[in-house]
Amino acid sequence: MTTGGVGRLLELGLGGKVALVAGSGPGLGRSCALGLAEAGAIVACVDLDGTRAAALVAEIASRGGRAAGFESDLRRTSDAEMVVSEVSKEFGRLDVVVDVIGEIRYGRAVDLSDDDWEYSLDAVLRQFFNLGRAAGRYLVAQGLGGSLVSISSVSGLAGAPFHAPYGAAKAGLMSLTRSLAIEFAPAGIRVNNVAPGAVATPRVVDRLGGRSPDGLPLRSRAPLGRMGEPDEIAKVVVFLSSELASYVSGQTIVVDGGATAEFALGAMDPDLIPDNSTLEQPR
Ligand SMILES: NC(=O)c1ccc[n+]([C@@H]2O[C@H](COP(=O)([O-])OP(=O)(O)OC[C@H]3O[C@@H](n4cnc5c(N)ncnc54)[C@H](O)[C@@H]3O)[C@@H](O)[C@H]2O)c1
Repeated sequence: MTTGGVGRLLELGLGGKVALVAGSGPGLGRSCALGLAEAGAIVACVDLDGTRAAALVAEIASRGGRAAGFESDLRRTSDAEMVVSEVSKEFGRLDVVVDVIGEIRYGRAVDLSDDDWEYSLDAVLRQFFNLGRAAGRYLVAQGLGGSLVSISSVSGLAGAPFHAPYGAAKAGLMSLTRSLAIEFAPAGIRVNNVAPGAVATPRVVDRLGGRSPDGLPLRSRAPLGRMGEPDEIAKVVVFLSSELASYVSGQTIVVDGGATAEFALGAMDPDLIPDNSTLEQPR
């Protein structure tokens, strides 16, 4: 066994590494970018909306980190190739890719249009395929290993009303994670995925009022009794991007406050628990 002691075990190994964060919005992208910068990485903030990327760059700089912003629509193959090339030119290398992009169109399956289906598949699955392929080509050629992390959802693990294309696309992301992990492993590149439950990002709190489309409070869906905070997802993303996860690849890590651990029986009323002494015991 080779260990360098606890201190060595806890080194993230992200100092001076270059991390591309795709989806630099105010939610998970922001937390992941700030977490990686805090761990010493140089961060390339990539977003469809250049002003979001620029705002995040300014926030990282105000905390003493180094970052640059890039406007890009990763649904387009050419944009994904261009942004990987621009980031690696700007900083001289690329080590870590974190892709939090994901858009949702809600609706009953019977009401959704072809466009809704294609939009969801493109906004979740195609864009990560584009970025993973472009980054994979670069990282293999660079020869220094690397890490890719994407964000799926518990909607990719269990069915949810009004989420059909989103859930299907997120499940596809988990499969793509495994395939890329196998193909990139010989080059020392790890590929993982994080599946959050309900997280209190501005999109969910401001737009949806912390409720799911069926009107129930999202906090009630988790046995821990609350929604997750963006930083609680980012901590897992930073771990997977770091040397601490050097032997973790092809995995989906669920971060959902216990939501998917619970069988549909729900919370038990203690008064309803049967008294074991009244039950017939085996002889
Ligand atoms: N918030 C939750 O409760 C929750 C739960 C499970 C999974 N997720 C997933 O986490 C991720 C982030 O969620 P969030 O709430 O922070 O979202 P968000 O909407 O705040 O951030 C997503 C960012 O991606 C950008 N983007 C969208 N399409 C793009 C494209 N084609 N190219 C480049 N950038 C693009 C958007 O401009 C936005 O800034 C999503 O994938 C979402 O599906 C969120």
